[in-house]
Amino acid sequence: MHRLLEAPMVPAHPTDASGATLAVVGAGYVGLVTGACLAKLGHRVACHDADPKRLTPIQEGRAPFHEAGLDEVIRAAVATDRLRPASTLKDALTAAGFCFIAVGTPSGPDGSADLSAIWTVVQALRDAPRGMVVVLRSTVPPGTGDEAARRLAAMGRGDLAVVNAPEFLAEGTAVRDFLAPDRLVFGGPRAQAQAVADLFAAVRPEAPRVLTTRPSAELAKYAANAFLAARVSLVNEIANVAQVTGGDVRDVGRIVGLDSRIGAKFLRPGIGYGGSCFPKDVQALAALGARLGLELPVVQAVERTNAAQADRCVATLVRAVQGAPIGQVAIWGIAFKPGTDDARMAPSTRIALDLRKQGIRVTMHDPMAKLATAAVTGGVQQADDPLQCAQGADALLVATEWPDYIALEPAPVAASMRGRYVLDGRNCLDHAAWRKAGLHIQGIGIPEATP
Ligand code: UGA
Repeated sequence: MHRLLEAPMVPAHPTDASGATLAVVGAGYVGLVTGACLAKLGHRVACHDADPKRLTPIQEGRAPFHEAGLDEVIRAAVATDRLRPASTLKDALTAAGFCFIAVGTPSGPDGSADLSAIWTVVQALRDAPRGMVVVLRSTVPPGTGDEAARRLAAMGRGDLAVVNAPEFLAEGTAVRDFLAPDRLVFGGPRAQAQAVADLFAAVRPEAPRVLTTRPSAELAKYAANAFLAARVSLVNEIANVAQVTGGDVRDVGRIVGLDSRIGAKFLRPGIGYGGSCFPKDVQALAALGARLGLELPVVQAVERTNAAQADRCVATLVRAVQGAPIGQVAIWGIAFKPGTDDARMAPSTRIALDLRKQGIRVTMHDPMAKLATAAVTGGVQQADDPLQCAQGADALLVATEWPDYIALEPAPVAASMRGRYVLDGRNCLDHAAWRKAGLHIQGIGIPEATP
């Protein structure tokens, strides 16, 4: 039976649940942000990761990766003994009332989510404290929480309830997203789902708390990312139409976004989405459909359009460098979006490797991110600064809208480059100024003559 219950908007006893003892397994983006922020709310959190290298920095009051504002939260939580790294799972579970599982669920060979890390943790909960609540925080396909509950019961640990509490944190704003969410979702047996919701009592009281079933909570996470990724793919298709019909996708996006049913966010066209979430989750949803014998043509098209957007970009750049003795392309931006050092599934890397396959020299720059291993082995070079990156290039692609690039004067860039072609893959530069510097700049879905 379908059940969707909204808990009271303002918790009756916001402070009752503070001071709970929690274990968090997985010190990646999701786990560490969750653990550190729950510690900030007043809980005692032990964070464990199978990779000890992720734990050492925590003790020193910082994250093992870049995330805005996270180091401060970790530092304060460690200093007040509310957050501690635990080198073993057994240690993390000591007296824990709740265990958050936030391990990776990467794409398997067929695109489906690889749940092996989840099952390893579930298996290891054999000796967990009695009555502890297991909170699935990782993004997992519908049915995973039920399967976890079955496995626990089969191990004789039916006393451990399973609640699915998906995260909706975006990289770069994860701490803010945690503390000021649009909504919080808790799927599972009512009493335990409410107990997990209570841990978040101090979080933005006006944010709706949705208590639901495990499969609904699990699917909601995939649905949210699929909706957002679909918007990006759709706006990219509209941009491509604008490009050849003389329209300006910025105006079109604004007009469309003014419809309150649609809304203004996530309508920025570009070279495609990347990161550790959209590509993986859209693929996993498509794979889930295939496994269930359900056709999901819209979901499949979201991914196809995304790949095609990067391919279009490659074709445009190849055209631009044709005729040069050895074509050379500079790419500004390795990270999949600004504000992060994360280069996972970044369209810039895909574009760089495709250009390399065509014998074109590629140099990339990023203020924070390092080249992905595939780019290094593919012969892509990394420059220390954007001007050095542009040196001698026949064409320049702006792949990530870092403020550093937006602030650059175009004249020195023009002087460094051999060619004149600039593809503003994020529509972030001042095209009139760049044109004035003698460069031929093109955006995505923007008429070429428009400032
Ligand atoms: C995304 C979701 O936004 C989060 O809500 C979710 O919790 C997270 O995935 C996750 O599943 O953990 P994130 O991957 O950090 O967060 O990044 P976004 O800011 O959503 O951007 C994703 C990609 O879409 C980026 O490559 C970005 O450049 C692209 N994008 C976004 C566009 O091309 N156009 C837009 O208008 C918006």
